[in-house]
Amino acid sequence: MEKRRYMEEWWKKTVFYQIYIPSFCDGNGDGIGDFAGIKAKLSYLKELGIGGVWLTPFYPSPKVDQGYDISDYYGIDPTYGTMEEFEAFLDEAHRLGIRVISDIVINHTSTEHPWFLEARGSAASEKRNWYIWKKPKASAAQKLPNNWESFFGGSAWEYDETTGEYYYHSFAKEQADLNWAEPEVKKAVFQMLDFWAEKGIDGFRLDVINNLTLTDCMTDNPLDEEGSQIHRYDVNQAGIHEFMKELRQTLSQKRALFLVGEISSDRLAVIHSFVGDGGLDTTFNFNLGSIERFEFGRLYGELQKMTELYGQEQMPTIFFGSHDMARFPSRFHFDTAQVKNIFTLMMSYRAIPFIYFGDELGMCNYECRSISDARDIQGILAYRQAKDEGKTEEEALRVLNEKSRDHGRNTMYWDDSANGGFSSAAPWIPCQKQPGESAVRQMKDEASLYSYVARLARIRTSEEALILGACTVDAPAEGVLVCTRAYQNTVIWAVVNFSAQVFVLDGVAGLPKGAELMIASLPEAVWKEERKIMLGAKSSAMWKYIKEK
Ligand code: NOJ
Repeated sequence: MEKRRYMEEWWKKTVFYQIYIPSFCDGNGDGIGDFAGIKAKLSYLKELGIGGVWLTPFYPSPKVDQGYDISDYYGIDPTYGTMEEFEAFLDEAHRLGIRVISDIVINHTSTEHPWFLEARGSAASEKRNWYIWKKPKASAAQKLPNNWESFFGGSAWEYDETTGEYYYHSFAKEQADLNWAEPEVKKAVFQMLDFWAEKGIDGFRLDVINNLTLTDCMTDNPLDEEGSQIHRYDVNQAGIHEFMKELRQTLSQKRALFLVGEISSDRLAVIHSFVGDGGLDTTFNFNLGSIERFEFGRLYGELQKMTELYGQEQMPTIFFGSHDMARFPSRFHFDTAQVKNIFTLMMSYRAIPFIYFGDELGMCNYECRSISDARDIQGILAYRQAKDEGKTEEEALRVLNEKSRDHGRNTMYWDDSANGGFSSAAPWIPCQKQPGESAVRQMKDEASLYSYVARLARIRTSEEALILGACTVDAPAEGVLVCTRAYQNTVIWAVVNFSAQVFVLDGVAGLPKGAELMIASLPEAVWKEERKIMLGAKSSAMWKYIKEK
């Protein structure tokens, strides 16, 4: 019974892969990724052991925020292909046993969406209440409705000349927030989700889903000691948990779709509060995934908290990269051995692993050398603000590279030809070929990072103990993690040594004699000395033991 339920919840045994569409694979040579390109690379994903892909937004969009500003919920952006090409991709993915979840942005639309254009046209428009409009305050000094700031910086209110009112945008001014207190909005959005479910999408990644404006609360946000805004009243508004349940129930009427929420918080208690209990299947664990620096104690602490909180029923996610972050090998200053260690952890801990495209090759950050290299709105706005504040070009460029999310959006390093084989035309963000070797080369090399990730993914998706097993995490020495998974009479130990010292395994977490070595991150990672098992510095390995019944 337990097993059957887990098998139905396919996402619990799936290794996911995030495809940032414009940077993944260009099928038509215009320098921007597309569906023809993704379809051509499905066999690559299959070989890597991927069972599910998360597609970033592909709907028509002016792309001020690279598709997170949707202007038509029912179409395919022509840059990425046609509806026929999308369907051909989806069919092929399903034929290969790869499920597809799509990113959907329902907190806001593009200001070019027909709903907004209609709402903006006149204060009497039928669609006016679909967005959040406020009259300027009477005070000469403070006309803005409140002090809310956009997550991209600056006020979250934009004055609209036509009707003399402000509209609310929690991100760029070209991304107007929907008014979720308006029942017609809910009706229209739920209908649209149904459309994609009917097309065969297997689930949704719900963008900043706890930001939905559900009430008319306009209380000013407090400021912290440094004067930065604490987003208290513009997120997690009253009714948000009930909303998730309603969404879940509505979508489950046809078939169970996997729902993973992006919760804009790095606090575990908040992230976890949206999981289960009739709401979302899981959420992204930014408490762990978005850590800036590698700190062993922090990593261990977060894993322990997650294990305790999620128990054996729910599953958190585990990831270290996404289109919103710097690439983790650069963030952590990790070499390939340590990158392999991160993957051992991702595949052995009890959580749903999400691999960000290119991380399986060890791709590093892209750096903008001038503002003309920048593509990301967040980086561009930060650069402009730095210039307005009188910063020098050099300082402004530093701010740009710190804030810009282009660093993780560099194009995929497919082969050794020009532009990493991304396309013959100039790619929209070059891959900047460096430490990570190309996919073509790594696929041929048994000892490569790619080959290691592929072997791990096979183990993760075929070993019941890693899918169903109870989990404990220990740190027997500074820099060493032991993740133990037990199911029926099988126990699997993953030992990850992030330290620069050799680790002697005997007596650790009860690894018994007769345990079989399943995989090691480096060919020379594990050896015996005077009957003791040794694990090399910056290495990891997994052992399996089957107890006699
Ligand atoms: C979260 C997305 O991951 C990010 O890329 C986007 O800019 C914001 N939501 C706004 O939609």
